Amino acid sequence: MAKVMLIDDEVTMLQMVAELLRSEGHEVHPFSNFTAASEALATVQPEIVITDLYLEKSRAQGLELVQKARELTPPALVIVVTGFGSVETAVEAMRKGAFDYLEKPFKLEELKLTIQRALSYSTAVSENAILKKELKKKYHFDQIVGTSQAMHDVFRMVERVANTESTVLILGESGTGKELIARALHFNSRRQFAPFVPINCSALPENLLESELFGHRKGSFTGAVNDKVGLFQEADSGTMFLDEIGTMPALLQSRLLRVLQEKEVRRVGDNAAVYVNVRIIAATNEKLDERIRRGTFREDLFYRLNVITIRLPSLRERREDIPLLALHFLRTRPDPATGKPFHISKRTMSILCKHEWPGNVRELENAIERACALCEGDTIQVADLPPIFRTYTSDESEETIPNESGPVGKAITNGHSNPQSVQLGNNAPTGAARAPVSNGVQVNGNGSHQAVAALKNFIRDQEVAYINRAMAQSGGDKEKAAEILDISLATLYRKLADEA
Ligand SMILES: Nc1ncnc2c1ncn2[C@@H]1O[C@H](COP(=O)(O)OP(=O)(O)OP(=O)(O)O)[C@@H](O)[C@H]1O
Ligand SMILES: [Mg+2]
Repeated sequence: MAKVMLIDDEVTMLQMVAELLRSEGHEVHPFSNFTAASEALATVQPEIVITDLYLEKSRAQGLELVQKARELTPPALVIVVTGFGSVETAVEAMRKGAFDYLEKPFKLEELKLTIQRALSYSTAVSENAILKKELKKKYHFDQIVGTSQAMHDVFRMVERVANTESTVLILGESGTGKELIARALHFNSRRQFAPFVPINCSALPENLLESELFGHRKGSFTGAVNDKVGLFQEADSGTMFLDEIGTMPALLQSRLLRVLQEKEVRRVGDNAAVYVNVRIIAATNEKLDERIRRGTFREDLFYRLNVITIRLPSLRERREDIPLLALHFLRTRPDPATGKPFHISKRTMSILCKHEWPGNVRELENAIERACALCEGDTIQVADLPPIFRTYTSDESEETIPNESGPVGKAITNGHSNPQSVQLGNNAPTGAARAPVSNGVQVNGNGSHQAVAALKNFIRDQEVAYINRAMAQSGGDKEKAAEILDISLATLYRKLADEA
């Protein structure tokens, strides 16, 4: 059964449909206006949204809601209800990603069937999504936190270049998220189902790195006891992430240049070259221009790699992201005793914001991890942080900033920004932990059979009204009226007889 958000400005209709859906076992969240519904979307995270499109006479708002519901992760399936004869609106809604539409007046069976179809569709999609989710786990944009302008610029760049073939060079201090961005690029490209192969160029001596990257033939050097396929071949159709590219030895730099130019690799001890289709993403925390000046990095390789540059800001250049990141890391490490994320005191948070963070996000992640391990209550205190933090002072109180499960300040969802901000002082609640907004109509449970009967009556009345209108329009010509109503003449006769 599904979590359904229901939006209609006709409160009786809203109540009746809500009751009907509850009697079918769904969890229903009814709202009588778009603003409230729209604000609550992220909190409620509905699977299905059923919305009237003529609400408050504002079609545009309704269409906007359709779009917003589609941008949730996972996206909600939207069923729009349109007024009689407003096929155009329905079409527009479908274009915005609505799953289906119902024209008023609709039959109960129709609504139930549409919901059922939506549910089986969403099961099929989510089964597929679960398979992909493991893969994407850490690299989906949702996991990349940041609402600072600098990070927005990064995200915009990632969106623009992810699904291209361009070579990308990622620059940034240690711990700024270079690998995370490299993975986001790969897992948001059409290469996502092919391998992402990372290699740290500084971790291996020159000869080992060479055979790792290019492979070798058995016997080509002492110790080459078997043929070995290189990482470039393993990454075929996928992405190779060359981390710490600045430290790559000169010989390998020229071999890499050849791969980039000719798209061929040659194993050590092999004359034959093999074609490979690999996208290269490289990263470094060094100043490559200095290396070029010193002659330890090839300028021509630099230009080959530097087609697109993404520079990641240090954490101290974007301090406004610190609280968001801290909450994010707290949420990913819930208290094992309660399963709930730790809260953090305002004072602790303000001290986190004062630190210089030479190790950037990685250092912050480690500090939070340590604090979670040491925390004795449910709220992280300054004493839980590494010793250096005790040297900072803060005027902030020991008051708790509540932290709740769920995503923190999503960076990007399907290409759209959805920033949340966290403020200190003024008792401002954290963006992420804001209390659920629900000024929607609360429908109290009263006998569902009663509700179903009332709904049937309601729909019948609507139908009678439409038939009468069609009859008036056709000047009493039943054939014409049946045409307007898009029903058979026999059906019209039956309905008129029922009416009488
Ligand atoms: N914007 C972010 N949102 C959430 N987590 C982040 C963010 N940036 C970095 N991290 C996390 O911080 C840690 C360090 O990131 P990553 O390994 O990508 O950095 P790096 O720049 O490659 O570091 P190094 O230069 O030390 O290799 C990882 O656990 C990563 O998930
Ligand atoms: Mg790294």
